[in-house]
Amino acid sequence: MRIIITLIIVALFASTSTPAHAKIKSVGKGDKMNFDPGQIPSDMKTAFEIMKVKCIQCHTQERTVIAIQTGIAPVTGQPFDKQATKAYGIKMLRKPKSNMSRDDVKLVVNLMNYLIDEAAKP
Ligand code: HEC
Repeated sequence: MRIIITLIIVALFASTSTPAHAKIKSVGKGDKMNFDPGQIPSDMKTAFEIMKVKCIQCHTQERTVIAIQTGIAPVTGQPFDKQATKAYGIKMLRKPKSNMSRDDVKLVVNLMNYLIDEAAKP
């Protein structure tokens, strides 16, 4: 009996702790984490390739995946929504040695906005 109760509690906890934006899937763990390539539409593959190269120069992709999955920017705890993506993109662009162009950032911001829309779908 005790084991069953434990299982129920575990199941309840697991379901309530699932993030509201569970729709965005990721592959890999920790430093290797990335968005699931299968959910990137063909017209955004270029943006995804840019993101995979440019946005992991200073930190791992995990940071961006978590921001989009949870809606919270993981370092500062600020909201990470469609109103915020452009500002974050520019913030990253302005960092020393960002090695990104405005066009790179525009494409990545567009991709992040798409993923945020996907995350919001029921
Ligand atoms: C030149 C280094 C650099 C590059 C390139 C870079 N970042 Fe960052 N990023 C940082 C630093 C440093 C932080 C720590 C928080 C801060 O300073 O804003 C950060 C934080 C973040 C955060 C968390 C922000 C927060 O407030 O919690 C996200 C999301 C993020 N970066 C996404 C990206 C994306 C997307 C790209 C590619 C367009 C990118 N980064 C490229 C340096 C970089």
